[in-house]
Amino acid sequence: MGKFIIKGGKPLTGEIELMGAKNAATKMMLASLLTDKPCHLDNFPSIGDTEITAELCREIGSNLEVKGKTLKIQTPEVKSNKVLQLSRRNRIPILALGPLLARTGEAEVPILGGDRIGPRPVELHIKGLTAMGAEIEIGETNYRARAPHGLHGADITLDFPSVGATENIILAAVLASGQTVIRNAALEPELMGIVKMLQKMGAIIELGAHRDIHVEGVARLRGVRHKILPDRNEAVSYACLAIATGGKVLVKDAIQDHLITFLNTVRRLKAEYEVVREGIIFSRNGNKLQPLMIETAPHPGFMTDWQQPLSLLLMQAEGESLIHETIYEDRFGYLKDLRNLGADVEIGTECPPGRECRFLGKEREHVAKIKGGKPLYGGKLAVRDLRAGIVAVIAALTAGGESEIEGIDEIDRGYENIDERLRKLGADIVRA
Ligand code: EPU
Repeated sequence: MGKFIIKGGKPLTGEIELMGAKNAATKMMLASLLTDKPCHLDNFPSIGDTEITAELCREIGSNLEVKGKTLKIQTPEVKSNKVLQLSRRNRIPILALGPLLARTGEAEVPILGGDRIGPRPVELHIKGLTAMGAEIEIGETNYRARAPHGLHGADITLDFPSVGATENIILAAVLASGQTVIRNAALEPELMGIVKMLQKMGAIIELGAHRDIHVEGVARLRGVRHKILPDRNEAVSYACLAIATGGKVLVKDAIQDHLITFLNTVRRLKAEYEVVREGIIFSRNGNKLQPLMIETAPHPGFMTDWQQPLSLLLMQAEGESLIHETIYEDRFGYLKDLRNLGADVEIGTECPPGRECRFLGKEREHVAKIKGGKPLYGGKLAVRDLRAGIVAVIAALTAGGESEIEGIDEIDRGYENIDERLRKLGADIVRA
């Protein structure tokens, strides 16, 4: 297990280019399983999560070749619809159920691993696929699915606009017989990227006006060349890094459309951004940051993966800020860890007045009060998940003194060569 040694306190400046979005790339690899023809994914990120997905696809029978930043993936035939084990775990395998059921009528994949963020249930995936004719057994280590009469369209209402469940149902529906409607669907830009790719492959997918997605099953899909959208979560990480260290960074390829809610937050904080042709420039411009109340929500709301890097800015704002996390049941472990570097935070279970969410009365630690204005100091942190990991890195780069960050494999799952890229911005970070 590697670690980073970081000496903080320097403003970081320069340019950093975004990779292709992790949360689109992995699902696009699975979408390629729906055809026997070659698929080319441009702007392909070489990160831990795409390596795990590549292993899954290889087990199934895909041929993969990465040249520069392009992945060529082709699955002429499904050699195995049972993947019993992978060398590492992430949350992707369950999304292979749809393509495997569509191509062979049977599938077995390992139970999810991935980020250690609360319980993260999958009943919406299971309910959706079951409504489409799949019979699913959940074993100790694996999901086993069969669709003895093939998959058929269904009218499915999600209790919560789950990204994974929406993707799973779309991947299953494009080759199913008849029409599938997903109500209360997720609409994240990464998911729209997958929709665009499937559309180019020959799928018929309509977006309704009320979080409803309509998929008309087709007999077959063809190969495709598709460019993976830039990673907006990376963009937010680097934006917060620039502002937190008092530097100025051009985040190349950042797309304003994907960041509208975040950019409004930057303005409310009294930090600065400028949208330019190459991307978006972020800085603090010598301003004092303002405390804020933030509530995470499904897209187009404030994304849950942004609250961790933003918390570091709230720690620098004079006064008390509040984060109300409404997506994950338990995503504040990282804040407790940041107490080791001097963060003054209180974690609670009660929704803010008038802002009741689905965790009301469930004793979930989903509200954080941050008392800002106290500088962080160097210390030791162990990374608990990907986004917590990047926060640990930014916190250490902001703090006075030296820090040691352990368990950095989690960070490598989603950020390509992060240390090398941060050194180009002037960061003092080494991998030990
Ligand atoms: N949920 C259920 N039942 C389900 C599915 C979800 O109750 O069957 C609830 C749970 O509360 C769960 C929450 O919905 O904790 C969010 O789950 P969702 O299915 O929306 O998320 P996901 O598909 O598991 C993706 C990203 C996450 C990102 C979320 C929210 C991938 C691989 N992961 O997860 O990204 O936070 O959407 O936008 O696409 C990350 O990149 O670090 C990361 C965690």
